[in-house]
Formats: sequence, structure tokens, C-alpha cells
Amino acid sequence: MIVLGIESSCDETAAAIVADDRRILADTIFAQIAEHTPFGGVVPEIAARAHLDHLDDTIAATMRQAGLGFEDLDGIAVTGGPGLIGGVIVGVMMAKAIALAHGKPFIAVNHLEGHALTARLTDDVAFPYLLLLVSGGHCQLLVVEGVGRYQRLGATIDDAAGEAFDKAAKLMGLGFPGGPAVAAAALGATAPYRDLPRPMKGRPDCNFSFSGLKTALRQRVDALRAEKAFDDATRANLAAGFQQAVVDCLIDRTRHALKIAKAEHPNLSALVVAGGVAANQHLRASLIKSAADFGVALVAPPPRLCTDNAAMIAWAGIERLRLGERSGFDYAPRPRWPLDEAAPVLAGAGVKA
Ligand code: KG4
Ligand code: ZN
Repeated sequence: MIVLGIESSCDETAAAIVADDRRILADTIFAQIAEHTPFGGVVPEIAARAHLDHLDDTIAATMRQAGLGFEDLDGIAVTGGPGLIGGVIVGVMMAKAIALAHGKPFIAVNHLEGHALTARLTDDVAFPYLLLLVSGGHCQLLVVEGVGRYQRLGATIDDAAGEAFDKAAKLMGLGFPGGPAVAAAALGATAPYRDLPRPMKGRPDCNFSFSGLKTALRQRVDALRAEKAFDDATRANLAAGFQQAVVDCLIDRTRHALKIAKAEHPNLSALVVAGGVAANQHLRASLIKSAADFGVALVAPPPRLCTDNAAMIAWAGIERLRLGERSGFDYAPRPRWPLDEAAPVLAGAGVKA
């Protein structure tokens, strides 16, 4: 089975072709960084227009790279939500058009399911596993029991982890996207700040919160600026301190979730990390240790497949298509689409998913 995947739910215009034997035949990502950099964050309307401008070429380049025509495909998979609705609509319309014109199955995929199942594309991980999904839009811990079977153990009550990195970078004047900028600045630290808060640490649930940490950072930056002491060295020390605080929070919550998941699923196969923040080397190193402490392996897909991409959408499409599923051409894009529909809705922006 060979499937074309299309992703356009945030600021990456992406297409990929994946085979059911787990080969990625082509994988193209057009990152709209130049479009959004002047605004220090993703502007939904600009993103939707950029998807319109670039999706055609992105798909054509992907087909060329794989040396395939549409007639060679066994299905078209597309992110059907959750995400910025303008972009999702662009992708869904394109996928429907290709599927209709070429008489191919069409399947709308949950973007989060794409992240959740990537470890099966890259490492053939068996169910059940614990997933830490940390990106700009999402921050949750889920037990992945099967395709379409998710138990959410915790999620953020305010910002997502990547969003916290992005806001922190903006506060410190470090540029966009924030995660890599904070990580790069932290490399120059000589005396990282150690006294930033670790919200939710030790709490009996598995939820996250980052707004208090962000406020603490803002107060620190404001005070340093007022004292005219916010120089490059201080910025590096603050960046390192902030990164450490976020990693500590993620590790504390993940260890708690590992304990719960292991008790409920003694056959838990792995701890999987996905989403853009999984590219953070500091976090990866700490997660390896935590997973080992609980007797499971850490599976971390390569960074290119951790951030938004279309290979994960094609793969999730394959997982669903080979179970005999497909979507109707009346499918309506969804701005919100939780993986665990039974879990209570939390209020934060980071839980739009
Ligand atoms: O998965 P992704 O590409 O898009 C979303 O679905 O949100 O994740 C992007 C997020 C951004 O917030 C970015 O700052 C963060 O991932 N990120 C990082 C790193 N690389 C990307 N955060 C921390 N450290 C990194 N190295
Ligand atoms: Zn994502």
C-alpha cells in the first residue's frame, strides 16, 4: 500500500509518500518561517494563504521525488484537524480533489494521531506504549492502546511546552521559533538560573502548567532590564535556567505517568516522545534515564519526524486504511479533535487538541 500524506494544520506545508512496509518514498516540508518571523509567531490567516500558495508545488515535488504518478497511489491521507482551520481546509480540499479525480480512497487523519503513531513508522513499536506529546500546540501524556484507542493521563491546563519555549524566546528577544533559539542560547550559559518555579511538580494528576513559569521569567527579565543588566551572558543563563525548568516539569509529569501506565498495563512496550519539543537534546537525555528507571525503552523518532511533517499523516492513513477505514467526501475539517474523547476538556490554548 502506497499513500500520499498532506499536512497543513499549522505553519508547515508538507507532503509525503509512505509505503506500508514503513519506507518513506518522499518527504517534503515547506516551513513558513519567513512568512511568520516578522510577527514573532504563527499568524493563522497568513498561514492559510501560504498553504494555498505552496501546497500545489509541494505535492508535485513530492510525487517527482518518489517517481510516482497519482495512479500509483492506494490512498490520500490528510490532516483533518485539529489545527488552524484555514490551513486544514486547504489541505482537506486538496486531498479530496486528488482522491476524487483519480478514484482513490480518501482518509482524514487526526494530526495528533499522526504524532502518536510515528514511532510505529520509525521503530515498529508495539501497543501499548506511553506517549509524551510535546509541541507548540499540544502537551499531553497518553497511553496509546491501539489505532484510535487512546487514554489521556494528563494535559496542559494553560500553555503547551513548545508554546512556553516560544513565548520565553520572545520575552528574551531570542527569535522564532523559540525552542531551538532557547536551546542554542542555553549552550552559552556559565551559571544557569536555578530558582525558576517547576509548576505542578509532585501533583497527583499528570497535568502540566507553564504560565507561572513564563510569568516568573517575565518578572526576572523586566527586573534585569530595569537594572540594565540584561546582557548576552545573563540571557544565556536565563535561557538555560528556563530550559531546565521546562525539562524538569516534563520529566516529573512523565515519571508519574509512567508509574500509572506501568501499573495499568504491565506489558507497556515503551515510552515514546513526539512533537517539536522532542527535538530538544536536553529533554531526550533526561527521558532516556527516566524510561530506563521504569524498565522500558525510550523511542524518540528523528527530529524531522518529531516536528510537523506529512510522513506521519501518510503513516496514520496507512494504519487506518489497512483496517478497512476511509472517510466520506462530506468530511468536515475539525478545529478541535481530542484523541481521547472521554477525557475532560481542559481550558488552555495548548489543549486545543
Ligand atoms: O510539532 P511542531 O513542529 O508543531 C506543532 O504541532 O506545534 O512543534 C513546534 C514546537 C515549537 O513550539 C518549537 O519552539 C518547539 O516545537 N521546538 C523546540 C525545539 N525544536 C522545536 N522546543 C525545544 N527545544 C527544541 N530543540
Ligand atoms: Zn504537530
